[in-house]
Amino acid sequence: MSEAKAGEANEAKQAAGEAGAALVEDGMRVGLGTGSTTAFALRALGRRLRNGELEDVAGVPTSFAAERRAREEAIPLTALDEAGGLDLALDGADEVDPALNLIKGRGAAHTREKIVAAEATRFAVLLDDSKRVKRLGEQAPVPVEIVPMALAPVTRLLEARGARAVELRSGQGKDGPVVTDQGLWVVDARFASGIPDPEALAEALDRQPGVLDHGLFLGRATDVLVGRESGDAEHHQREEGA
Ligand code: A5P
Repeated sequence: MSEAKAGEANEAKQAAGEAGAALVEDGMRVGLGTGSTTAFALRALGRRLRNGELEDVAGVPTSFAAERRAREEAIPLTALDEAGGLDLALDGADEVDPALNLIKGRGAAHTREKIVAAEATRFAVLLDDSKRVKRLGEQAPVPVEIVPMALAPVTRLLEARGARAVELRSGQGKDGPVVTDQGLWVVDARFASGIPDPEALAEALDRQPGVLDHGLFLGRATDVLVGRESGDAEHHQREEGA
């Protein structure tokens, strides 16, 4: 990506992040997502708290990275054990389809992200236009967090469900497999032109021993905020009953 393009992408991410932080109201318990777009939301949320625009807000982080960011921004933290349900979760995504289904997990945080999103009354997803696809799996791989000894059976399952390539995630500044916040591994499944049947794949992965969780978030997002370089964000909401 050229420097100019990267700058535009950052402006769009910032617009989405700011729009997400604007959804937070006094007294809310908020899920704090992981990734570069949500980082803008945490920055804006920290600023709103420091300015005195908001009070009595506490966040539940979805990863060690989100926890560190929240601490840098002096956002008060809580835990699901104490929060008693969340009003809102803010998070990024790698892909969104027209029905607001998602792929998440480029940061390997999808397991905690799904736990937190499931606890929230409203789950707002923050992204830029490059993440919008017609079919899930067109661009992004589906990450699956696994117990290491399940690598071969999970790979076979993914290939049988149409994956063209299944890779154990490795590198990223580490010699060997990437190890998640839970101490487990991640495989990334790429599909040639989209996942043939995302619901069936999600159900199969949910049933597969050795899978902790996967990055398909189907029917979970209530709101999607698409940031633009101009600084605006387009707001899409799930239709009632969809
Ligand atoms: C973390 O595991 C992911 O689910 C992120 O939320 C997702 O990859 C989006 O990240 P960016 O905002 O950095 O693109």
